[in-house]
Amino acid sequence: MSARKIIIDTDPGQDDAVAILLALGSPEEIDLLGITAVAGNVPLALTQKNARIICEVAGRPEVKVHAGCDAPLERPLVTAEHVHGGSGLDGPELFDPSMPLAEQHGVDFIIDTLRAEPSGSVTLCPLGPLTNIAAAFRRAPDIIDRVQEIVLMGGAYFEVGNITPAAEFNIYVDPEAAQEVLHAGVPVTMMPLDVTHKALTTRARVEAFRNLGSRVGNFTAEMLDFFERFDVEKYGSEGGPLHDPCVIAYLIRPELFSGRRVNVEVEVSSPLTLGMTVADWWGVTDRPANALFIGDLDADGFFALLTERLARL
Ligand code: RIB
Ligand code: CA
Repeated sequence: MSARKIIIDTDPGQDDAVAILLALGSPEEIDLLGITAVAGNVPLALTQKNARIICEVAGRPEVKVHAGCDAPLERPLVTAEHVHGGSGLDGPELFDPSMPLAEQHGVDFIIDTLRAEPSGSVTLCPLGPLTNIAAAFRRAPDIIDRVQEIVLMGGAYFEVGNITPAAEFNIYVDPEAAQEVLHAGVPVTMMPLDVTHKALTTRARVEAFRNLGSRVGNFTAEMLDFFERFDVEKYGSEGGPLHDPCVIAYLIRPELFSGRRVNVEVEVSSPLTLGMTVADWWGVTDRPANALFIGDLDADGFFALLTERLARL
């Protein structure tokens, strides 16, 4: 089977970084056409820099990294330095990347790529707020029917919120963008907190990365040593949830995951529940199913895949 063409849209973020590494370590299954950075965990100036740092750590300075939107469609930016640190990649020693930032705006890259590639052959993989994706759909509606699938990290239902009692961060930052993407008519697979909170970076799993004895292995372990502390303190969990790599792992080994096709709506007005993803899990409304909502994974299989693929870099 030929490799799947994807664009990763991202706000690195330690977990975003591991997702990018997994994609770069899986050339048989993933043809990474480019990376578009978006404002989210930290401002755009840092997310685009961090995406380039990760590509250089992976020894892949030729990857095209584009800067996209620096703020949500209709709201001020909310960031998450309390989780990811001031750099967005706290943990390892960082450096100024020498690979250049692509000149083209990330939204234009998404539009031009979807127009240039055969229709239905490109999967979009948003790992942060959905601003770039929604902006591309607004600016060029003709590309919507050309998207093969959107596999995104975002949302929560039974697991409730992580940035507010009701909302998950990626959706909360740009709820209008999320609602528009979920109703664009593109096939959507969601990796919500319901599944990502089962992908915990236990000590044994982090040591397996460190024991790779490589630059990538050490960099990953140092990122996760820092990243997990927020969730361990908040939830008392045995490690931090490795959210974004679930998106890439799903493309490589979908059998590791299970979920249900349901209707998902986003709250865009209530101050109390802004950004909440309301999943009609039991079909009590007549709202059409618009997403495959993933609720479970084989966590040991997920981390075995991650470790095996990062060992290749
Ligand atoms: O809520 C978790 C999501 O928000 C992850 O994508 C993390 O990187 C942050 O962007
Ligand atoms: Ca992210």
